[in-house]
Amino acid sequence: MRTSRIVGVGRYLPERIVTNHDLAQIMDTSDEWIQERTGIRERRFFELGKDTTANMGTRAARMALENAGLTPQDVDFIVFATLSPDYDFPGSGVLVQRELEVPTIGALDIRTQCTGFVYGLSIADQFIKTGMYNTVLVIGSEIHSSGLDMTTRGRGVSVLFGDGAGAAVLQATDEPNRGILSTHLHSEGKYAEELAVIDPGSSRAVPRTQTRMIEEGTIFPVMNGNHVFKHASTRFPEVIKEALAANNQQPTDIDLLIPHQANLRISQMVQKLLGLKSDQVFNNIQRYGNTTAASIPIAMSEAWEQGKIKENDLVCLAAFGSGFTWASALIRW
Ligand code: UT7
Repeated sequence: MRTSRIVGVGRYLPERIVTNHDLAQIMDTSDEWIQERTGIRERRFFELGKDTTANMGTRAARMALENAGLTPQDVDFIVFATLSPDYDFPGSGVLVQRELEVPTIGALDIRTQCTGFVYGLSIADQFIKTGMYNTVLVIGSEIHSSGLDMTTRGRGVSVLFGDGAGAAVLQATDEPNRGILSTHLHSEGKYAEELAVIDPGSSRAVPRTQTRMIEEGTIFPVMNGNHVFKHASTRFPEVIKEALAANNQQPTDIDLLIPHQANLRISQMVQKLLGLKSDQVFNNIQRYGNTTAASIPIAMSEAWEQGKIKENDLVCLAAFGSGFTWASALIRW
């Protein structure tokens, strides 16, 4: 049966490093608080005039294509996951199509936040399985730093997030038991407002954007941290077990679990609940914070480069976030 394989991975991280100590200069927080609760030591912030959500995604995509021995001209379709697009519309996928200077191929933006990359992978996989496309780019890219409340009011959220981009190239394969074995997608919209940016939403008084929104801070992300933590700790292991069960595999069969980098404590809890060893789980949140849709492909790219993902390895991706949405993918690399 025709399936899809990840044939190349890439990433782009802005150069500017912002440490916890840097944040403590502008809001009431501390390196100790951030590290103890989240594991984060530093994150990257974009450079104005140089980095955009789209062009960071394009750079990650070029690296992924190069690693695959492909050129942009080989790509049949682009899937772009972000919650921080360059424009309100159009989506950033078309900007990547422009920057890659490829023919007029389709470009689809998806917005499932932290699960965006896994949802994107699933979409690409379906297009490949049906035979519609042979080569699909899946990109996750985020610029959070320009949209966070960098005052003490926003500290519960703003210390968590960072900027960056990651990408994967998928190609069709006929090899049995190879590539993306299955993907599992979920949502529970009753918790939509537990982690959200509410304004400027469309169902608002005219004009849609008002000074009040800035004053009240409804243009900034809000999160019921404890609630999100509790659900994440349950949904991560659940959706990983779902992927394993669908393929008759056990946690011990996993060569590498790459969880969405939301909080090191969550990853450690998931590791413990599944009985995994430390070298079975990849984490880099310490250096990049939470980069939402970009976190999994950035981690995948680093893990691959460090030789932690090898041919034939069983790799599991899992994510949870705003929506709530959660998802997993099991891959025979
Ligand atoms: O990727 C999307 C999914 N996101 C997640 O999975 C995140 C899930 N949630 C979390 O990771 C945790 O809930 C946080 C790391 C966000 C927060 O940790 P927490 O242990 O739940 O802290 P808390 O929100 O209960 O706050 C504890 C205290 C509060 O002070 P009081 O009320 O106890 O006096 C906060 O005001 O810590 C205070 N606080 C801070 N202090 C210093 C909140 N943020 C900060 C901060 N620096 N940055």
